[in-house]
Amino acid sequence: KILILDFGSQFTQLIARAVREANVFCEIIPFQKSFEIDPGLKGIILSGSPFSVNEENAPSVDIASFIQKVPVLGVCYGAQLTAKNFGGRVDKSNKREYGRAKMHIGKKDVLFKNVAEESQVWMSHSDSITALPEGFEILATTESIPVAGFKKTGGPEKPLYGIQFHPEVYHSIEGKKVLNNFLIDICGCKQDWTPASFVNETVARLKEQIGDSHVIMALSGGVDSTVAATLISKAIGDRLHGIFVDNGVLRKDEFEQVLKTYDAIGLNVTGIDAKQMFYDQFKGKTDPEQKRKVIGKLFIDVFHEESKKVQGVKFLGQGTIYPDVIESVSVHGPSQTIKSHHNVGGLPDIMHLELVEPLRFLFKDEVRKVGLELGIPADMINRHPFPGPGLAIRILGEVTEEKVKLLQAADEIYIKGLKDHGLYTSVWQAGTILLPVKSVGVMGDERTYEFTVALRAVTSVDGMTADWAHLPYDFLAYISNEIINNVRGINRVVYDISSKPPATIEWE
Ligand code: XMP
Repeated sequence: KILILDFGSQFTQLIARAVREANVFCEIIPFQKSFEIDPGLKGIILSGSPFSVNEENAPSVDIASFIQKVPVLGVCYGAQLTAKNFGGRVDKSNKREYGRAKMHIGKKDVLFKNVAEESQVWMSHSDSITALPEGFEILATTESIPVAGFKKTGGPEKPLYGIQFHPEVYHSIEGKKVLNNFLIDICGCKQDWTPASFVNETVARLKEQIGDSHVIMALSGGVDSTVAATLISKAIGDRLHGIFVDNGVLRKDEFEQVLKTYDAIGLNVTGIDAKQMFYDQFKGKTDPEQKRKVIGKLFIDVFHEESKKVQGVKFLGQGTIYPDVIESVSVHGPSQTIKSHHNVGGLPDIMHLELVEPLRFLFKDEVRKVGLELGIPADMINRHPFPGPGLAIRILGEVTEEKVKLLQAADEIYIKGLKDHGLYTSVWQAGTILLPVKSVGVMGDERTYEFTVALRAVTSVDGMTADWAHLPYDFLAYISNEIINNVRGINRVVYDISSKPPATIEWE
């Protein structure tokens, strides 16, 4: 595997994904965390950082000790840190370099194998390397900086490289090639991290971990929990007990459809209709965080009650994925809670169960590939994300059964429309929001006074930032007509044109 030491750059996860795309396994760890250099470790990548290497307390690591054993590639800050640690100079540039730059390769080297002599790279730095240490040579330059790529020459150590540009960013045209040269030619990585090998290894490991015990797991109908459950089920069959709760705020007919899919995959899942209990609890609750808490707590109660019916349970299955567990390097102090997302966070504690998390090291796109490898229907794999509190956080204000029905009807028209018009997979997430606003309309000769629905659709990579999707006007017109003509109680449709930040994807 490859280790990526994170110095806090916003691009660190992109490096990891680019490495995984080359079918090489990698892990991200905070720069200050200690680790073993065992024979399985093939190389180290040092990430970028918002710091300057010249700042007091700038994050640092002992690169000289690593290169006794494995090749190292410094990226951006990682390159500057390398230069500085070995006695080079890094200075504030007169001109900051952000965005595209033209790189010229001055010296042939395996790092730039098959890379064009001139190519576009992506830069994001205000410091630059002004003098390399002794025994280092320049491999590449750009118009504004003399050192865009370098290597340490000679010595008994393993190869040591630095590049000022970001190879992991899409705009570095030959970036993936440079990374692959490092991974394969320099580190000697085998490209054996594939969905098939992941499935085989994971199922074997799960068999060992679980033995002849039983596992219970809350399923949500989402991609992550479905793929995780399928892997566990492949390892232990019906000793996996899935529980799928109808909390009354799912999409229209979703409960029945999802249960049917689970059945087709061969998962042992019990569906529990708890709708009424949830509706009772929603009474009088209007604050978003309070609504989330009510749903989270009642869900745990229902799940706990149901789990007592299963004998011999020692494990709790969860669909946790890698972005949820990467320890982040905090550079701006502790971050503020914007929304409390973790709906089942409290489960393992009260139930004294060990966790089984087969997707702990996968990125979302890898989860999807593994899902397809497992034969899960593509419809299920390509579903948009849907929040745990469901339509409850898309009905602003108090949630009632009537409002849920209204929103379900509008939502069904919208999602079906997106699918029928070939737009569903081009947006990252879409849904309708029921506003607590009534307005006047006219239908035929009659005055109406009904609710407003907002349509939301965003493009995004990971949900952390998002742009509103530029859906075609004709499509929006069609949906607006369909909703107003077919859903009695809604007489106005608006489209949300806010991006995240400063807005969020959900309205609550
Ligand atoms: P926001 O609204 O924070 O949403 O921009 C980002 C992503 O998270 C989902 N989301 C939630 N998921 N429980 C969940 O399981 C929640 O309470 C919750 N709130 C937002 C949202 O749907 C989007 O995918």
